[in-house]
Formats: sequence, C-alpha cells, structure tokens
Amino acid sequence: MKIKSENVIIAPSILAADFSKIGQEVTDVLEAGADWVHLDVMDGHFVPNISFGPVIIEKLRPLTKAFFDTHLMISPCDPYLEAFAKAGSDMITIHAEAGAHMHRSLQAIKTLGTKVGVAINPGTPVSVLENVIDMVDMILIMSVNPGFGGQKFIPEAATKVGQARALAGDRQIHIQVDGGITLETAPLVTHQGADVLVAGSAIYDGKGKDSYAKNIAAIKSAL
Ligand code: DX5
Ligand code: ZN
Repeated sequence: MKIKSENVIIAPSILAADFSKIGQEVTDVLEAGADWVHLDVMDGHFVPNISFGPVIIEKLRPLTKAFFDTHLMISPCDPYLEAFAKAGSDMITIHAEAGAHMHRSLQAIKTLGTKVGVAINPGTPVSVLENVIDMVDMILIMSVNPGFGGQKFIPEAATKVGQARALAGDRQIHIQVDGGITLETAPLVTHQGADVLVAGSAIYDGKGKDSYAKNIAAIKSAL
C-alpha cells in the first residue's frame, strides 16, 4: 500500500541536532517544515549509547505545540513512563524487546493519556505484535540497530513495513520507520505503507534552517 507523499509525516530526530542550542534547533526544523519532533531517549543499557531524559523534553515543551514523538530505547521502561508523559510527550513508543511485559507497558502508557507506540528492532519479527495490535496508535519499524544516528538502512525493513501495514488492516495506525532514511530509502518504505519517516542526519546537517527546509522538501519530493 503506497502512502501519498502529502500524507507522509516527517519527524526529524534531534539526536543529529546541535545540543548546545537545542531549543533553536527544534524551532528551526519546525519552521523548515517538519511535522513532528522525534525524541530519541537512550540509556546505555538497552542500547550502547546515552542521550537525554525527560528534563530536556520538559524544557523544549513550551517552545512549540508540535507533536512530541518520544522513542524510548530504555530498559526497564515502566518506571519512567510517567516522567516522559508529564514532560510533555504526545506519544510514547517503547520497544517490544525492552522487557518481558510489553502488554503491561502499553497499558501503562494508555493510562497516562498519551498516544501509544511500539517499536521492533531489525532482528524482531512483526508477528510479535499480533496480540497487541489493538492497543497501539503506531508501530515503529527500526531500519537500523538502535543506538546511533548516521547508520546504513537495513533493506529488510521495507518488507517488514508491508507486513506491519497488513497487520494493522483497516485500523488507524501509523507505521513509522527510523534509521538510515535518505532520499533513496524513503520511497522504499512509503511504497510499503510507512506514513511517518524519522530522519536525523538527512535533515540536521549543521547548516541551519534554510538547509533543513531544503532537506525536508527533498525527502518529500523523493517519495
Ligand atoms: C537510532 C535512532 C534514530 C536515529 C536516526 O537509534 O532511533 O532516530 O537518530 O538517525 P539517522 O536518520 O541519521 O539514521
Ligand atoms: Zn528514534
């Protein structure tokens, strides 16, 4: 199922932004045409890197009304869900691999009143989501092994996007892809049914707002 380019949501990952001026980087990318803000939270345990926690999200929240898409690459996740909801996340996405009780974690997010997302790593089949599909607003198909920006897209992710779209059926569920999204790889996944594209290094090139706008427009026109 091909998604029309006007229906594709662009969610820049601030992981690739300049953290010395992170507020400006967020407002710049939104003025440049971004739809959502993708917030990559890493704990040095579930993934081999550490990024930031809820305090940063809380400080960014007053700057914009834009949708805050929080991607938790942390294990355990349950003890921190409330803090990420209170910090101003509009959606919280946890990893299916983050613990033994994915179902419980998804229920907990729902109770906190944010949208509910579930992510799967490249080595995890879409079938692990069969019993939670009615609980989620979004499935995140990882197209790199999580932990770092700037990695190469894993092509099998496109097949998994198609499987996730089929599993979603007629439900209103976003299918998001994260990792290695470029002008070349973006159409591979939107043609299979992805409607939310996360992009870090393809958008945040260190050159400021005008360049971010060009980068976002180029992705949209490549779809
Ligand atoms: C990877 C993160 C991604 C990453 C994407 O662990 O979840 O959001 O920052 O970066 P690029 O687009 O550079 O692959
Ligand atoms: Zn991410």
